[in-house]
Amino acid sequence: LSEPRIKAPRGTYDVLPEQAPARALLESRARAILEGAGYERIETPAFEATELFARGVGESTDIVQKEMYTFLDGSGRSLTLRPEGTAPICRAYIEHGMHKLAGPVKLWYLSSFFRYERAQSGRYREFWQVGAEALGSDDPAVDAESILLLASLLAELGVEGVRLRLSSLGDAESRGEYRERLQAHLHAHADELSPEVRERIDANPLRAFDSLHEGTLAVMAEAPRLLDQLSAEDAEHFAAVRELLDAAGVRYQVDPTLVRGLDYYTRTVFEFTSDALGAQSGVGGGGRYDGLVELLGGPPTPAMGWAAGIERMLIAAGEELQQAAPARVDLFVAIQDSDSRTLAFELLRDARSAGLAAQMELAGRSLKRQLAHADRLGARYVAIVDGREAALKDMESGDQENMDAGAVVHALLRGLREIA
Ligand code: HAM
Repeated sequence: LSEPRIKAPRGTYDVLPEQAPARALLESRARAILEGAGYERIETPAFEATELFARGVGESTDIVQKEMYTFLDGSGRSLTLRPEGTAPICRAYIEHGMHKLAGPVKLWYLSSFFRYERAQSGRYREFWQVGAEALGSDDPAVDAESILLLASLLAELGVEGVRLRLSSLGDAESRGEYRERLQAHLHAHADELSPEVRERIDANPLRAFDSLHEGTLAVMAEAPRLLDQLSAEDAEHFAAVRELLDAAGVRYQVDPTLVRGLDYYTRTVFEFTSDALGAQSGVGGGGRYDGLVELLGGPPTPAMGWAAGIERMLIAAGEELQQAAPARVDLFVAIQDSDSRTLAFELLRDARSAGLAAQMELAGRSLKRQLAHADRLGARYVAIVDGREAALKDMESGDQENMDAGAVVHALLRGLREIA
C-alpha cells in the first residue's frame, strides 16, 4: 500500500508556469503605474509580532478574532503570518524613521497575505495583493491620486464591470459619537437583528451594514448615517476629494453604508467591485488611516492607501491579460547528431551573450522531434548544427539557409532586425 499523497493546504494554490505570463504582465503594469507616480517598492516580513495586528487591525475585527495564522516560535514569541500590509508598513515607517523623509512617503508592494477564511472561488487562505500606501500628508489630493491610481490599474488590466463606491468615516471623535447612536438604534431593534449582528452590537456595530440578513437589512435602512454627521472639517475634506475625482473623470457612487473590515480607517474609504466576479466581488479597496502610525507608537502621521487582490484582478481581467504570451524564444539550437553537441553548445552561449533568448536540444530527441519541439516552444529560428555547418531555418517563412555555425548569431541578429 502506498503512502497517501500530500496536497497543497486547503485555500492555497500553486502558480503553474502557464499562469505565470498573466501574473508577470499584471505586475509590470502595476509597477509602471505606481513607480510612474513616485511610489517605491517595499517588502516587509511574511510574519510579524501578533500584537501589531491585534492593535493595528483591531481586536474586534473578523481578521483578528478568527482569521489569523498565529503561532509561537521556538522561544515562545507570538507571531502571526501577515493578514494584510498596512500595519506592517506603518511599523516599518516608524522603525526606519521615514517620517524624517519628505512627505508623503509613497510605498508599494506585491506580496502574499494569509487569512484563515472559508475557501471559495476568489477567496483563499494565502492570497496576493498589490498595494500602495502614501504616508505623511492629509491633503485630499493624496486621496484622489491614490484612488485614481487603482482605477487606472484596473482599466489597464481590462478588468470588466468595475464600480467604485466611496464614503467618509470622519475622524475618531465623530466616529465615536456615531458609534454610540448606531448602538442605541441597534439595541432598540435587537430582536429584529440576526444573532451574529446582535452579539456584536457593542464590539463592532458598524459591521451590521455588511449583513445580508433580511431583518437586519430593514433595521439598517432606518439607521443613522455617519456621512450625514461628519464634522465641518471632515465634510470639507470629503467634498475636496470628490471634486478632484470629478475633475479626473473618475465615476463613483457615494455609499454611506460602506464600512471596511479593518478598524484603522478615518475619513475617505472606498472599494472597487467587479461584476465579473461572483460573491467575492471586491477587487480592491482602502482609505485613509490618519491615526494608525500614532497608534503603533509613531508620530502623528496622516496616511492613505489601498490594496487589490491579484487573484480577483486576474479572474476579472480582459482578454489581453488572459492571453499574455509566455517568454519568447528567438533561437532553438538543434543537433544533427551527438558529435555536433559541443559546437551547438558554443552557439547557444554566443546567442545568449548577444542578448537572444536561446535554448538547445537537451533530451536526445531525433531531428524530426527536435523540430516539432522547437515549433511547440514557438521558436522564431532553428539552427540545425551539423559538424561546423549549420542550417538556419526561419520558422515563420520556412526559408532555410546554410552557413558556417559561427555565422549564425550574426545572420540571426540581422534577420530579427529586418523583422522589427
Ligand atoms: P482588504 O479589503 O481586506 O484591505 O483587502 C484588499 C483586497 O484584497 C480585497 O479587495 C480583495 O481583492 C483581496 N482579498 C482580501 N482577502 C482575500 C482573500 N481571502 N482571498 C483573496 N483575495 C482577498 C486590506 O487588506 C487593506 N490593508 C487595504 C488598505 C491598504 N487600506 C489602506 N491601505
